[in-house]
Amino acid sequence: AKPFRIAPSILSANFAKLGQEITDVIASGADIIHFDVMDNHYVPNLTIGPLVCEAIRPLTDAIIDVHLMVKPVDRIIPDFAKAGANIITFHPEGSEHIDRSLSLIRDQGCKSGLVFNPATPLDYLDHVMDKIDMVLLMSVNPGFGGQKFIPQALEKLKLARAKIDAYTEKTGREIWLEIDGGVNTANIAEIARAGADTFVAGSAVFGAGKDTDPNRYDSIIKSL
Ligand code: DX5
Ligand code: ZN
Repeated sequence: AKPFRIAPSILSANFAKLGQEITDVIASGADIIHFDVMDNHYVPNLTIGPLVCEAIRPLTDAIIDVHLMVKPVDRIIPDFAKAGANIITFHPEGSEHIDRSLSLIRDQGCKSGLVFNPATPLDYLDHVMDKIDMVLLMSVNPGFGGQKFIPQALEKLKLARAKIDAYTEKTGREIWLEIDGGVNTANIAEIARAGADTFVAGSAVFGAGKDTDPNRYDSIIKSL
């Protein structure tokens, strides 16, 4: 596996040209499509669901990383699995039974993960590491693209890195550590040093591609 992965968040893409946006960021070297699902209930915004996931699935072989900011989570999980999601993550606050929701994701043939808001303790990991393929740390409060990176996330990344490394040493199984919110070319190196291996970037990527040149994302993806 690559040591670092870039995951553009299509929340900041031009939705009127979504297919082209996805094709172009992947052609520019992005590794993962980060797919933000918001329900106007768990978070104060409303975005896209399984129909859009299904529509973009044929455009790329890249991993589609579905970040569920919804409550409750369980009933939407099978729909995203059928729509072609590869990874499904959710917030512990969105599930009544975290272990059950993680099993449901795996049973549907997807990789699973838990998402931690800035103030949510990492303790939720302790008894479910065997059921987790990715840990996603939020470095903004979820709901909107274009927010500023919360610096306390760096200390939390180090704690998560230590937990994951201890687990990998014991089991031989890899778990990815993803960071989401306010990542840009100026802070990504420091974030990598704190332990992240997978980097969501929404406004930093799609904000750099306002023209119609098909190579418009080459320089931002390469500079991340
Ligand atoms: C925020 C979303 C993020 C967001 C990141 O709730 O989970 O994925 O799109 O956008 P930027 O990179 O602009 O902070
Ligand atoms: Zn996200």
